[in-house]
Amino acid sequence: MNDVQGPRTRELTMDTFYTDHWQTIEPERLDRYEQLFQFRPEQEPFVDALALTGKTSVLDFGCGPGFMAEEIASRTTAQVFGVDLNKEFMSRAESRNTKKNLKFFHLEGDALPDEINAVDRVFIKNVLEYVPDLEGTVARLHSILSDGGRIVVIDSDWGFVLVEPWGKVRADRFFEAAAAAFREPHIGRKLPGLLARAGFEDIKVKMIAGVDLKGRGVSVLQNMVSYIREFGTMSETELQAHMSELEAAQANGSFMFILPQFLVTATKGNPDE
Ligand SMILES: C[S@@+](CC[C@H](N)C(=O)[O-])C[C@H]1O[C@@H](n2cnc3c(N)ncnc32)[C@H](O)[C@@H]1O
Repeated sequence: MNDVQGPRTRELTMDTFYTDHWQTIEPERLDRYEQLFQFRPEQEPFVDALALTGKTSVLDFGCGPGFMAEEIASRTTAQVFGVDLNKEFMSRAESRNTKKNLKFFHLEGDALPDEINAVDRVFIKNVLEYVPDLEGTVARLHSILSDGGRIVVIDSDWGFVLVEPWGKVRADRFFEAAAAAFREPHIGRKLPGLLARAGFEDIKVKMIAGVDLKGRGVSVLQNMVSYIREFGTMSETELQAHMSELEAAQANGSFMFILPQFLVTATKGNPDE
């Protein structure tokens, strides 16, 4: 029996879902993100890549609930900006903010506020897979960097995910079913070319992969499940079988989740000293 559901009751525009689902976020998903996007010690390599001097200004583009921007602002005396498409993230971040050198802005379109100009660093983590105009966004980020400034880009690539006990074929099938949630699901492998075309220099790429045996990554998979349900691209029976298997694997110790992160740094013109 084929029990694949068609798209559900509310109007779903598959073509723009990848950006629409950040404009409006249901309260449970917002709460889940507040947990998922907390700053964690294993994210130190991302902050190290910024090479902060203590006086470097930073833009965190697509900062979400703002925890990373807050962490960065505690390590520099210069101005730090966090900007994001989602209004609720920005109002929650602003209401938590106690730092004088940290400002949040809600972005309504492509343009950045005039105040964000000639920053020393741009930090952009897990955002580029969702932007409607990749080349345009990267060109804008290049233009607001000071000469010698540095960009730090961190992104996944949904062709490089390990979910055990699913195995490769089922994991690929699952992420393909969720692909409309991303403008560019394979962004990780495309970053160096993208930055080079925008005029960045001294491009360096590292891959950082933590191994999750405890089930932290399950909330990432749950988000995917909610997208797949919206799209109707996999039957409910199959989805439930996948998720029950993960639960059993967590209980018997056979669970493993690896979502490598591409960490790419590049400079505008000559790197500063
Ligand atoms: C996966 S979250 C990452 C949040 C944060 N950078 C982190 O890693 O904790 C993606 C974020 O990008 C934001 N975003 C998506 N498209 C955007 C766009 N076109 N301009 C600015 N922010 C965007 C979303 O609202 C969301 O907060």
